[in-house]
Amino acid sequence: MTKLIAIAGSLRAQSFNKNLVKIAAKGAEEAGAEVRYVDLADFAIPLYSEDLEAEGTPASVNDLKHLFAQADGILLASPEYNGSISGVLKNALDWLSRPSKDAEIGSAFQGKVAGIMATSPGGLGGIRGLAHTRDILFNLGVMVSPKQVAVGSSYQAFNSEGQLTDADMEQRVKALGAEVAAIAKQLIN
Ligand SMILES: Cc1cc2nc3c(=O)[nH]c(=O)nc-3n(C[C@H](O)[C@H](O)[C@H](O)COP(=O)(O)O)c2cc1C
Repeated sequence: MTKLIAIAGSLRAQSFNKNLVKIAAKGAEEAGAEVRYVDLADFAIPLYSEDLEAEGTPASVNDLKHLFAQADGILLASPEYNGSISGVLKNALDWLSRPSKDAEIGSAFQGKVAGIMATSPGGLGGIRGLAHTRDILFNLGVMVSPKQVAVGSSYQAFNSEGQLTDADMEQRVKALGAEVAAIAKQLIN
């Protein structure tokens, strides 16, 4: 079965980006993929330092890297901070891009497909940050779907259950999840 990992680049408990990536994950599941939703807040990933890495890859990084390595594709909701990706997400991607010194873990990114999305309270929905997210993933060897979704006005766009209030937008987000599932399936066959 095609396996995807779904993750948001926010540690916030009430993160709109967590809501968003879960909707894409549902779309992927409906298309037949097995999706592992991962909360970055559950991994106490330290700030990257080569000095720290020289002492050994932190267990939290290895744990998260294992989950990425097992996945055929990635669903990523990337909050926009100052027109770019969030610091916590960039930090996690930097750690995951490194070879693990003390564990046999495959690549977190190489040869995988990703679907990227964002939501923010502003009108552009984080679309400027997605350009950076796409670029970073491309440099990590990830094939990023040309489709992407940016959902503006997040305080109005989601209801209290974390669902999108606009049915058309929900369909677009689910379709992105389904597309990533389909491409990942082709890649592993
Ligand atoms: C340091 C910082 C910078 C931000 N910069 C932007 C920005 O450039 N564009 C934007 O649309 N929202 C920006 N925001 C607002 C975030 O999009 C908003 O807090 C969003 O809800 C964060 O995602 P989350 O709900 O998944 O935690 C910024 C927020 C913070 C804390």
